[in-house]
Amino acid sequence: MENAPSDQWFTLRWRDDALELIDQRFLPRREEYLRLKTADAVAEAIEKLVVRGAPAIGCAAAFGLVLAAKRSEYLNPESFKKDLELSRKRLAQTRPTAVNLFWALERMSLIWNDKANWNLDREFIEESLLNEALEIQREDLDSCRKIGMHGVDLIPSSARVLTHCNAGGLATSGYGTALGVVRAAHSAGKIQMVLADETRPFLQGARLTAWELQRDAIPVTVITDGMAAHLMKTGEVDLVVVGADRIAKNGDVANKIGTYGLAVLARHHGIPMCVAAPRSTIDVKMATGAEIPIEERGRNEVASPFGETILPDGVAVRHPAFDVSPADLISAIVTEVGVARPPYEDSLEALMAK
Ligand code: MRU
Repeated sequence: MENAPSDQWFTLRWRDDALELIDQRFLPRREEYLRLKTADAVAEAIEKLVVRGAPAIGCAAAFGLVLAAKRSEYLNPESFKKDLELSRKRLAQTRPTAVNLFWALERMSLIWNDKANWNLDREFIEESLLNEALEIQREDLDSCRKIGMHGVDLIPSSARVLTHCNAGGLATSGYGTALGVVRAAHSAGKIQMVLADETRPFLQGARLTAWELQRDAIPVTVITDGMAAHLMKTGEVDLVVVGADRIAKNGDVANKIGTYGLAVLARHHGIPMCVAAPRSTIDVKMATGAEIPIEERGRNEVASPFGETILPDGVAVRHPAFDVSPADLISAIVTEVGVARPPYEDSLEALMAK
């Protein structure tokens, strides 16, 4: 990984035959960009949370396959295919929960598996892969803006919106899903305050959501995760808006660990619990959330966050990185083609068919 110069911030971009990424591990202290030139480097960046957030992971993986094509020795079409499949496998092993990763890899692989393309030369495949990755990135940005447009109607005036983790521009090609709704509502003059859950242990809320909202002059207040219940009880939260890593056919939603707790709390306090996600996050192959694989991350993120050990030596930790909120706790799912309401079996199917 080499350093790249930066002008205005961006989550990821393709430039001069490399994938450039803002290194999210160091925000907000340092705005540092990396230039990645191999699929392995992209896989490592996804594993280490240099790039994170379901749609951004999908986009990064797509560019990873472009790099795989560029680095292939290309002995013959068969060896080329084999190289691409190996990189696809490596990228697929990085993080199991966000379905956008597998969705993007599958979409990219259609190019080299398409028989009509196969007799054509390497250059053609390379160019087609790059065009597809750029298209995935463009569509993602477009979806986020449309999610914002559809979601704005769910936001009351002078809203105090609680969000968890980072489902913003940093988690997408730009604009964000949950924060896309917040951005659109802010433009409509509806946002009084965004309450950003700190989001232990990687602090996506405190570090990333706070950083990008502050850059856009959207009012934000960071709270620790344990404060949400108290603030709901004291009437300081009007609604919750979060993103998603995978949504099952029945509307169960996997998202950053802690989201399920918020869904239970929101129901108890009579507060709407809204989810914002593109259709690439809906996994129609999964009937319910019980089938969604939940990533367990390593000990260090909990025991030694940001290099500082905070636990006594030898004490065990758990680190499920995601949880599943049951569909009956979700008030609405906002996508780029409209808003789904319960019962989700029907409403999501209708949105997928659009
Ligand atoms: O572990 P992360 O930071 O990749 O988790 C991210 C989330 O849980 C987001 O809420 C989700 O991916 C939606 S991003 C638009």
